[in-house]
Amino acid sequence: MSGEIVHVLGAAGFAGAQLAALVDGHPHFALGTVTARSDAGLRLVDIYPEYRVTATMTELDVAAIAPGDFAAVCYPHAEASELVATLVDRGVRVVDVSADHRLHSAALYPEVYGFTHPREDLLAEAVYGLPELHREAIRGARLVANPGCFPTAALLALAPVRDHVIHVVVDAKSGVSGAGRRPTASVHFSSVTESVTPYKVLTHRHAPEIAQEFGQEVLFTPHLVPADRGLLASCYGRFVGDTPHPDDLLEAYRRFYAPHPFVEVVDAPPGMHAVQHNNFAQVFVTTEPRRGLFVGFGVIDNLVKGAAGQALQNLNLMAGRPETEGLG
Ligand SMILES: NC(=O)c1ccc[n+]([C@@H]2O[C@H](COP(=O)([O-])OP(=O)(O)OC[C@H]3O[C@@H](n4cnc5c(N)ncnc54)[C@H](OP(=O)(O)O)[C@@H]3O)[C@@H](O)[C@H]2O)c1
Repeated sequence: MSGEIVHVLGAAGFAGAQLAALVDGHPHFALGTVTARSDAGLRLVDIYPEYRVTATMTELDVAAIAPGDFAAVCYPHAEASELVATLVDRGVRVVDVSADHRLHSAALYPEVYGFTHPREDLLAEAVYGLPELHREAIRGARLVANPGCFPTAALLALAPVRDHVIHVVVDAKSGVSGAGRRPTASVHFSSVTESVTPYKVLTHRHAPEIAQEFGQEVLFTPHLVPADRGLLASCYGRFVGDTPHPDDLLEAYRRFYAPHPFVEVVDAPPGMHAVQHNNFAQVFVTTEPRRGLFVGFGVIDNLVKGAAGQALQNLNLMAGRPETEGLG
């Protein structure tokens, strides 16, 4: 029997299509409207055959989204905030998959995202949707800001040492689907294959998001790698005070993540394959006590734990469902 309706807005994009597929396969939620602009009238299966979702995409009609329903907005940043506000004001509970409600400070939006945020009240209200840090607040939220893919992997690798490590460097690698569906020269097969390319050095928009949740600035450099899905954040830092033995730190991470069903603390540095197409994050950490060094790794599928899977995890929490429902 189906329960709450979940509408997926921006379903023709990579994150939206993945989320529509997850909601379609969910044992409790019912997939509501799936919206698109140029692809309206097509079935999702026509452009994403791998998901086998036969729902037909339609143009957005806010009137078709009833108060009490859930909606996930999968638009690009700066395009989502007005629709999110309309939906929340209407009594719809929203997960914003874009970056438009992730930063608490409205003052950062012009500098980081190039627009003036229209609703400071919703920025203040939005809960940052990393369940491993904010699970209880997510349960009651009207508006959840789904985290970015790089921040998800980095924060999961770093959160347990938040008050113990400084001078943090996050060196991250992402598959090409992180750039979305629209093709550009930099994501052309010929540009990406057999290469690894750093980009947005010192200017990537996810750095302030990581800093907000980690509580300190980090030096963040993303790289594009020749993979479709997958994201690895390699994190380096220096302990303040005593440096734990590697075994003790791993044990502390295992305790920290024991209540969190989608984080696996593993015994060796993880690769992307173990997390592709699933909602798990794998984390490994170690130390070098002589020099006070911390090294941590977080790996996720950017479209699942980094976007759509995490959105469904948040929807489960918001609806009072088991957190893992519909996520394998
Ligand atoms: N890709 C990832 O790994 C990932 C990870 C975490 C978060 N995100 C976030 O998720 C959001 C979507 O990313 P994506 O990778 O799925 O991008 P995408 O593949 O480019 O899809 C974006 C979708 O938004 C729609 N759209 C664009 N501008 C719109 C507007 N003004 N009004 C209505 N619809 C509009 C487009 O619809 P039409 O095709 O119908 O024009 C498109 O299907 C972004 O905010 C992104 O930062 C993505």
